[in-house]
Amino acid sequence: MTAPAPVSQAKIPQITVLDTGGQYCHLIARRVRELGVYSEVRPSETPATELEGSKGLIISGGPSSVYDPASPSVDPAIFRSGQSVLGICYGQQLMAHLLGGDVRPGAKGEFGFATLELDGGGNRTPLFEGLPARQQIWMSHRDTVAGMPPGFSQLGTTSTCAIAAMAAPERGLYSVQFHPEVVHTTEGRRILANFLFDVCGCVKDWDPRHRIPLVEQQIRETVGARNVFFFVSGGVDSTVAYTLCLRALGEARVRGVYVDTGLMREGETDFVRAMFNSLGAAGTVSIESAAEQFLTPLAGVRDPETKRQIIGEEFVRVQERIIEARHLLDGHWILGQGTIYPDTIESGGTEKAATIKTHHNRVAGIQRLLQDKRIVEPLSSFYKDEVREIGRELGLPDELLDRHPFPGPGLAIRCLGAERNEPLERVTDGFIVPVRSVGVQGDSRSYAPVLALDLFPGTDGRLQAEATELINRMQGINRVMARVASHAPLASLAVHASSLTAGRLERLRRADAIVRRISHESGFDKTIWQFPVVLIPLGTDAAPDSVVLRPVHSVDGMTAQSVGMEAPLLNAMAAELLTVEGVCGVFYDLTHKPPATIEWE
Ligand code: XMP
Repeated sequence: MTAPAPVSQAKIPQITVLDTGGQYCHLIARRVRELGVYSEVRPSETPATELEGSKGLIISGGPSSVYDPASPSVDPAIFRSGQSVLGICYGQQLMAHLLGGDVRPGAKGEFGFATLELDGGGNRTPLFEGLPARQQIWMSHRDTVAGMPPGFSQLGTTSTCAIAAMAAPERGLYSVQFHPEVVHTTEGRRILANFLFDVCGCVKDWDPRHRIPLVEQQIRETVGARNVFFFVSGGVDSTVAYTLCLRALGEARVRGVYVDTGLMREGETDFVRAMFNSLGAAGTVSIESAAEQFLTPLAGVRDPETKRQIIGEEFVRVQERIIEARHLLDGHWILGQGTIYPDTIESGGTEKAATIKTHHNRVAGIQRLLQDKRIVEPLSSFYKDEVREIGRELGLPDELLDRHPFPGPGLAIRCLGAERNEPLERVTDGFIVPVRSVGVQGDSRSYAPVLALDLFPGTDGRLQAEATELINRMQGINRVMARVASHAPLASLAVHASSLTAGRLERLRRADAIVRRISHESGFDKTIWQFPVVLIPLGTDAAPDSVVLRPVHSVDGMTAQSVGMEAPLLNAMAAELLTVEGVCGVFYDLTHKPPATIEWE
């Protein structure tokens, strides 16, 4: 009898996504998995010989131009490997370039919605099987394919892009200039499914819930006879990872520490305590109160990056103190982390993850554990949605699994300060408010004042569209907000010199709790992705601050849309917010990302 293969044997992806640095590569792999096919992301230049196990390859879109010598490429042998290949956006251009076609640098580019018209062999190709002759697609490219490589035929066009899709079907090569992985391409899911099942012959082999026994087995193999400790955050990833370890190893061998930074939302520590209680694991998690340690060095600080740095450094100190005091570096212990798949690979879409994690990475003790491979990351092959599915299967409460993302530095980066007292400046469309908030245009971040409109925000997206126009037109602002309600007219308000203080944090905490309660009771929170509540030093001498509401739709935080809220709900929220001591006004952020970020700092 032959011995069974170890259960932790790596799974071979049927589809490998070759990452050319675009923000969409993880989205592609996620969409493929949603269709029930296991998929992984690899660097674009991975040699063809290492990709042989996959049935199909997808070359992702990227920000580069094939004419830039530093731009990513692929091993041309993949086109002769017999595997089917789908090039998306930059992937199409790369395919054309490497196979003898002609790519033209575009001066202006095409960004946003377009209509794809299937022509040539388009409606007969398996890629577009069952699709209407005209469909909405989403474009984001500068260069275009002007001449197809020999043997390719054109499948579809748009009004501005002659070769919006092309193929050499007998060689299994397909490409599209648009993005089938984004929701704005209405038939995108169908196109990807056609590629997987009709072109590549994939079979369904992926359901993250079925992986639970295997993951538990992997935990036991990695941990061996040792014990696991976690720094838990109360977020989805670390809680699911912790629960898996508890199941795999038993309560006696798993310990967690939750650090209360004093920068958390109202009731957060109680929530974490109650949650681990309900999991029957209360005895395994301890709470480290470190509010003083964070708030003291933060007092008076205004600069956002300095705040993040201080918080990161204090985190390091707390973690080192705990590691030292509990002798966690001795051989009996191994570190558990809730790292998820996108955090494990470097790509254009994951630079944020790298920044978010700096405070963990910098801890010397943790570095040593990493070097010695004394670390267990049970979720490192899963996407966020998959982690939620696993959590649900494990019986974790919806209240935890449906939580919106919350930034590591907590309320500190939602409590804005100002250097000095300053009046508002009246301009044609509203008032310039001299508080500095973050914007992203292109790849760079900038800090700039905010434009306040003296208009009540509606739900039809009209003001949001106007906000985008205003930012494009006006110099020096990257965010627009509308006045919902205030104790005094907008024209009479001013910005007040202020910084991060315990009092203002408490004010923000109150406001945030009100917003969360009302948005939960009304069900609004279920309709959105995240709902930051921000305190800005705009008001009167008697009530120096205002609250800004920032509900957004998003898929992964990379881009986001400002969401409208029905007037009765918004009015109810504003009325209660105006009862908070020190709050003068309530505003509504109208800006999409880009041009603004989700957070204000
Ligand atoms: P931005 O503001 O860049 O945010 O549009 C995108 C997503 O990232 C979160 N975010 C952070 N998370 N530490 C974190 O752990 C941070 O410093 C940080 N800054 C932003 C933000 O809440 C949003 O979900």
